[in-house]
Amino acid sequence: MIHIAPSILSADMNNLQAELDSIKESGADFIHLDIMDGHFVPNITFGPFIVDFCRKASDLTLDVHLMIENPERYIEDFIKAGADIICVHKEACTHLHRQLQYIRSFGAKAAVAVNPATGIDFLDYVIDDLDMILFMSVNPGFSGQKFIPSVLKKIDLFNERYGDHLKNDFIIQVDGGVNDKTCGLLTDKGVNCLVSGNYFFKHPDRKKAVQILRGGA
Ligand code: DX5
Ligand code: ZN
Repeated sequence: MIHIAPSILSADMNNLQAELDSIKESGADFIHLDIMDGHFVPNITFGPFIVDFCRKASDLTLDVHLMIENPERYIEDFIKAGADIICVHKEACTHLHRQLQYIRSFGAKAAVAVNPATGIDFLDYVIDDLDMILFMSVNPGFSGQKFIPSVLKKIDLFNERYGDHLKNDFIIQVDGGVNDKTCGLLTDKGVNCLVSGNYFFKHPDRKKAVQILRGGA
């Protein structure tokens, strides 16, 4: 199954409960939470209290994307708030291996995100410590940006190197500019989790949007 992860960065935060209900009704199965600190990325969003709200308000998988420097300072707070998946950025971690082990020590799924210009050689040394890889297909910081196609080459390289090695439930996620035009390029390559901000929240029929992203008509 292809997981669909609407990013609440594009949601109406004045009606967050209704938006979470709408995500559930659409058939999407993850809630993607973009945490930004104004340092690692230019934008600032929200902290663990919104994750806590979502945990109480929804039974969907909470997928927490940390676009923050020194993520180790906050990992425990986000897991206690209810995160199921914690994704740290390769570029923000001096001690990536330690962070991944730390995330798993709480029973959460450990993930790493790579920016558009970041290579994947480092995965040779941490692939077994990962439950998910997040390929950024925009520069992190804002929703509504244009898809950067060089991510497709990177996914090919990833599949060549690690395709035979991955466990069945390994998640290959892409985040940024995912819509009805780009989703098929990704799922054709085995991407099994699509983050969607603008496309999902602006679609007049969110159930239909999820079907389209999953490859249905
Ligand atoms: C960007 C965020 C994304 C963003 C996606 O830094 O990580 O999750 O919300 O939004 P769209 O789908 O509009 O590109
Ligand atoms: Zn994100």
